[in-house]
Amino acid sequence: NREPLSLYQAFQGQFKIGAAVSTATLRSSGDFIAKHYNSITAENQMKFEHVQPQEGLYTFEAADAIFDFAASHGIAVRGHTLVWHNQTPDWVFEGPDGGPASKELLLSRLKAHIHTVVGRYKGRVYAWDVVNEAIEDKQDLVMRNTKWLELIGEDYLRHAFQMAHEADPKALLFYNDYNEITPVKRDKIYNLVRSLLNQDVPIHGIGMQAHWSIYGPPLEEIKQAIELYASLGVQLHITEMDLSMFVHEDTRTDLLAPTEQMLELQQQRYEDIFRLLRSYSDVLTSVTFWGAADDHTWLDQFPVRGRKNWPLLFQEDHTPKPAYWRLIEKS
Ligand code: XIL
Repeated sequence: NREPLSLYQAFQGQFKIGAAVSTATLRSSGDFIAKHYNSITAENQMKFEHVQPQEGLYTFEAADAIFDFAASHGIAVRGHTLVWHNQTPDWVFEGPDGGPASKELLLSRLKAHIHTVVGRYKGRVYAWDVVNEAIEDKQDLVMRNTKWLELIGEDYLRHAFQMAHEADPKALLFYNDYNEITPVKRDKIYNLVRSLLNQDVPIHGIGMQAHWSIYGPPLEEIKQAIELYASLGVQLHITEMDLSMFVHEDTRTDLLAPTEQMLELQQQRYEDIFRLLRSYSDVLTSVTFWGAADDHTWLDQFPVRGRKNWPLLFQEDHTPKPAYWRLIEKS
């Protein structure tokens, strides 16, 4: 029954502490979120399908409400995301004849989208995930085979960053991806960002999603990824952190509560990871969790639908988990 300190206050002077939110979680848990987090990211409501479901039809009600919440509580906003292969409506890639859009048409749609969305929130987003998950996981391919790549070519990244920079010259622009610590993928991410920097593309940071688990990845791999990315002279953000109770291949659905052993592993992992992250707070300027508390996490639907997971620092009733106390005490 100690009065919990605020999570973000424990890391003040080191990095921002963020959470993915929605208008629904802000409505149900706004006080709790404002107490513990000083950065928020729209979990879904600023993605392409939400803000431009049909061509030229922009729907900003939800995003506006998130910005209003942020402004009234003095909370910073990370923008997520402008270019992705998921949650982007089909019309974007279709031409007037029903076939695929031409390169010119797709680029003009990209520009309209980015200028409209980034322009609307100009000066109110400290960092944008301009391109999300463009790298392939499999060893033999570099770029993920998406409609963006297929119809525009690798140049789509350069264009997207340039368009975002035109629309908000002061926003930090990020490339964001997952499996960011696995050696094969981290080298591909490094090479991609290095090549963009060499072409003078306005890119300022790499987002590490950090969808990890209580079992891995090894700290050493995380450290190596941070060092490699930081060697490019860009900022780093942890953008979507959670520590799943399951390894990805584990499809068990019968667990109704986390075991003691799981909770212990989780608190140890959070402690170890944050000790490492704190040692890089000169380049690592923001750490966002993909959710605010265990009552709402995308891992309840992914990779197994309808299985409960407990990946965050607060219980379903928003009381702190042991991992939270470890972080507060050690910070
Ligand atoms: C997820 C959301 O959490 C889910 O609600 C939605 O159904 C799918 O997208 N990588 C990302 C995030 O960059 O946008 C994803 O968010 C999780 C994986």
